[in-house]
Amino acid sequence: MTDRKELVLDEVRRYHQETEPSGEFVPGTTEIWPSGAVLDEADRVALVEAALTMRIAAGRSSRKFESAFARRLKRRKAHLTNSGSSANLLAVSALTSHLLEDRRLKPGDEVITVAAGFPTTVNPILQNGLIPVFVDVDLTTYNATAERVARAIGPKTRGIILAHALGNPFEVAEIAQLATDHDLFLIEDNCDAVGSTYDGQLTGTFGDMTTVSFYPAHHLTMGEGGCVLTSNLALARIVESLRDWGRDCWCEPGENDKCLKRFQYQMGTLPAGYDHKYIFSHVGYNLKATDIQAALGLTQLDKLDGFIEARKNNWRRLREGLDGAPGLLLPEATPRSDPSWFGFVITVDPEAPFKRAELVDYLEERKIGTRRLFAGNLTRHPAYIDQPHRVVGELTNSDIITEQTFWIGVYPALTDEMLDYMVSTIKEFLAARS
Ligand SMILES: Cc1ncc(COP(=O)(O)O)c(C=O)c1O
Repeated sequence: MTDRKELVLDEVRRYHQETEPSGEFVPGTTEIWPSGAVLDEADRVALVEAALTMRIAAGRSSRKFESAFARRLKRRKAHLTNSGSSANLLAVSALTSHLLEDRRLKPGDEVITVAAGFPTTVNPILQNGLIPVFVDVDLTTYNATAERVARAIGPKTRGIILAHALGNPFEVAEIAQLATDHDLFLIEDNCDAVGSTYDGQLTGTFGDMTTVSFYPAHHLTMGEGGCVLTSNLALARIVESLRDWGRDCWCEPGENDKCLKRFQYQMGTLPAGYDHKYIFSHVGYNLKATDIQAALGLTQLDKLDGFIEARKNNWRRLREGLDGAPGLLLPEATPRSDPSWFGFVITVDPEAPFKRAELVDYLEERKIGTRRLFAGNLTRHPAYIDQPHRVVGELTNSDIITEQTFWIGVYPALTDEMLDYMVSTIKEFLAARS
């Protein structure tokens, strides 16, 4: 049987080699995507091998990935989820658990976040009956500062959730200190920033919990997927319960009686000895991923260091190539940080003699893909207008981002030739407009 499996996998390797696109780059014709999955032969083989085992639910590969990823990101526990959005939902929901006793967040409590970002960093605040408090971000780093966060802390504030914007760390050491000083929880949305550091320390290791996305645009991919990481074992237990239907038991599916007390619990008003596998201590979800996703995650993880390096090099090449370009505000790394970039953000100076839309159209017509800095100012979207929230200060920069900002890619599949073409196309546009 093993021989037959090897034959199948050899055939998969051959298939991969024969069907791989040529990689030839034709400027103006070849699409330059802003992001995408970077998949190789090992990934294809891992997916087929996982399918051959027919272990289709979460199992051995999921646990193996969770251990390896927790080690890599220097957290004690990782819980795999079906998306980064689910990871954020779990992280925020965990803060409302009765197991946190007096520290639990209750409806009406406030959580500080930014107005310009990705919707599902903010949505779990509302979904848990909490109140988002929006602060503005700085242009060129696209992050909130510790000072802006400090100004937003009020008597009802109990937490902070911020994303490291497009890979660029926010002032996480200072904000973690604020959280400690004011007894607030801090969640780092690290979906776009795996491998970034601040003061030489990995992002995601400063707060109480951190989240990651494995959607194809991100540093590692499983197709869909995400992860919650923490070194707080009490929070890890809550996340696991909420992820796995809200159950109290922590045995893996297919595993029994790890606690050696399966039929000895009495909880709620249930009869004594009720099977622990079916006792529910949280109002939970099922947000698990599958072993097929985890198998891909494991081969992707082997390449993480190379991916991070490529993203940094690609960003640097664009940054150096565009330095001094008139009419553009170019991105800056937050001081004391070393970002593992997600994208290259450009804001068209509101005083420039051209509009963002003209530049974006020019690039798109030449097959250079662009994306918005996600939602821009979230408070202007129909979904949020009538939601309870508080705004601290003006959202001037969030509005500028809504009007003037876009980003282009730095993901590892981009070649120097493509990056140079991106630079020369932008410069060509600027020369014609000056
Ligand atoms: C900062 C941030 N948080 C959360 C998410 C959500 O991740 P997912 O698409 O896996 O749900 C994204 C998605 O791109 C993101 O950029």
